[in-house]
Amino acid sequence: MSTQAPARPLTMALSKGRIFEETLPLLAAAGVQVSEDPEKSRKLIIETSNPNLRLIIVRASDVPTYVEYGAADLGIAGKDVLIEHAASHPGGLYQPIDLNIARCRLAVAVRNGFDYPAAVRQGARLRVATKYVTAAREHFAAKGVYVDLIKLYGSMELAPLVGLADAIVDVVSTGNTLRANDLVAVEDIMPISSRLIVNRAALKTRQAELQPLLDAFESASR
Ligand code: ATP
Ligand code: PRP
Repeated sequence: MSTQAPARPLTMALSKGRIFEETLPLLAAAGVQVSEDPEKSRKLIIETSNPNLRLIIVRASDVPTYVEYGAADLGIAGKDVLIEHAASHPGGLYQPIDLNIARCRLAVAVRNGFDYPAAVRQGARLRVATKYVTAAREHFAAKGVYVDLIKLYGSMELAPLVGLADAIVDVVSTGNTLRANDLVAVEDIMPISSRLIVNRAALKTRQAELQPLLDAFESASR
């Protein structure tokens, strides 16, 4: 009889909301049903129909941290979040699959009526509020535009309306949030979608368990 402790089930980190919702069909394609809705149960560890797979529910921007440190073997995070994480943890995560979910774009937006092209032409120093400081810094550096970046954690759309910033860098999907706040997108930075991320050690030590999931996600997201 083996005296080894049973291995912990594979652990996948997800955020509530759109990523959780859009991951359910991918899990279903891998034959996995989920036992609870995290919006209702408030549970942070969720069992699945596969006894060797459980989900943990964390903030979107914390998903890469759980996976990188091995508290989760795999997870799903937006490219926006992964760019910011990689700035302080380069190369820490394996990113095998673009799942094509939670699609949006990262864009520069300003108040309706603010002449952004003229400000750029004149070499004005712009104040830009954003949660995405790494992506924003790289974007403006590549354009040769001087910016003072102001880090925010949400509700970026408010910043130009109350004089905190001239512009914001935020994700845009339908454009409804910009329109509701009398802002306009003036520049696209990049398309965004969510990626599967895998812990580098788990990739080696739990490859046999991970591979069927990776394969199912890959074909379901094409
Ligand atoms: P946190 O809770 O850590 O602040 P968040 O509020 O950005 O993160 P979500 O709103 O659940 O978390 O977004 C998760 C991911 O979905 C984002 O990282 C982004 O890649 C993508 N996303 C954000 N907004 C939209 C949107 N309106 N439409 C489609 N995808 C979006
Ligand atoms: C995100 C983002 C934008 C909005 C853009 O907010 O922060 O405000 O989506 O989407 P739209 O172009 O379709 O309006 P979200 O809905 O995630 O709210 P939250 O940031 O408060 O979680």
